[in-house]
Amino acid sequence: MDLLVVGGGGREHAIIKKLKENPAVETVYALPGNAGMDCEAVCVPIGAKEIDKIVAFAREKAVDYAVVAPDDPLVLGAVDALEAAGVPCFGPNKAAAIIEGSKIFSKRLMQKYGIPTAACAIFDDADAALRYVETCPLPTVVKADGLALGKGVVIANTREEAREAVDSMMRGGKFGQSGLRVVIEEFLTGPEVSVLSFTDGETVVPMISSMDHKRALDGDQGLNTGGMGTVAPNPYYTEVIAAKCMETIFLPTIRAMKAEGRPFKGCLYFGLMLTPDGPKVIEYNCRFGDPETQVVLPLLESDLLTVMQAVTSGTLKDVEVRFSDKHACCVVMASAGYPAAYEKGYPLSIPESVRPHVYVAGARREGGTLVTNGGRVLGVTAVEDSLSAAISSAYDMVGQISFDNAFYRRDIGQRALNA
Ligand code: AMP
Ligand code: GLY
Repeated sequence: MDLLVVGGGGREHAIIKKLKENPAVETVYALPGNAGMDCEAVCVPIGAKEIDKIVAFAREKAVDYAVVAPDDPLVLGAVDALEAAGVPCFGPNKAAAIIEGSKIFSKRLMQKYGIPTAACAIFDDADAALRYVETCPLPTVVKADGLALGKGVVIANTREEAREAVDSMMRGGKFGQSGLRVVIEEFLTGPEVSVLSFTDGETVVPMISSMDHKRALDGDQGLNTGGMGTVAPNPYYTEVIAAKCMETIFLPTIRAMKAEGRPFKGCLYFGLMLTPDGPKVIEYNCRFGDPETQVVLPLLESDLLTVMQAVTSGTLKDVEVRFSDKHACCVVMASAGYPAAYEKGYPLSIPESVRPHVYVAGARREGGTLVTNGGRVLGVTAVEDSLSAAISSAYDMVGQISFDNAFYRRDIGQRALNA
């Protein structure tokens, strides 16, 4: 079988490596992929948002199955276009991807169906939003409605910060169309848990839980990033909490989407906060998380392609989705300066013995040499019997990799270890 994976980061590298464990898989085309995965995939220079070109390529190569991984193409309708061209696909269609594409949609969905989430007010008028932040409880959370590269959330501790967030989004055009409408919501507290799930629109199968580390610096300081490291499972996510989430969040969400005429098929990501009042939804993503995927898939013992195809054909209830009882830790190595300005083009040195554990996010080839080409450059994942062993093994491998300006957090997994 020949497969096509849309996307080009560490998450896609992890998906591709897992898919290739199935001996029936011959070629995997990555659109666009990156040079760090060119041992496992044929990288094709077509951007993840170039839907017409993606469809034309899939037809030309007569690929047997496609996986659309990033949010942008999903929200733009890449799955609809591929399916219309006769290519079976993993991922939600446009109507379902709105669960991530519009925070206003997802907040209204949760309100309508009684799914626990932060209380909120919704604004399409800047004056009304500015009046609201003069009296709302602090801290408060201002969120752009649409996609904003993971940067559309501002936690405002003061009225001045709240005003500035509203003003820059609604009047300053900070996130373009995405910020013209905002959600202003209650600030919640408690440990955060990421739960990715497989769902075919009827059945929902949660994957092993994980914990992201979103801030750039040790001790959860610095700017928000796409994610600097992950561990799985998340020790805060006990069996009792998992059962509660299934009953109050996962099943109600799947049923709500179906009732709205938007059945969700693909990977639905539940970003949860375990508050003193019980688990609540912080956000939904319509896709695998990055770098959650880099710890979750290495623990998946079942065949990924079989599970994905069952999602597509609506037969998820008939397949086994089994996870190992081991622990995984992924440490992201970035370019100094990320998520703000950073330099690129530095040669990467990765020993052969470490390569199987590396998921490359941002690299290109210059001559024959792999050089850095992104803020997040790569992630290194260790799988071990205990969390502490996974953490030390991941950092041991990080120590063997080098490139100029490399920067990473030293405390990935510490919070989980102290849980
Ligand atoms: P998001 O971009 O939606 O993943 O949000 C980024 C981060 O902001 C989340 O991981 C949370 O840590 C934080 N956050 C978002 N919404 C809230 C909230 N209502 N209360 C507290 N923290 C929040
Ligand atoms: N790591 C968070 C996300 O993928 O949105």
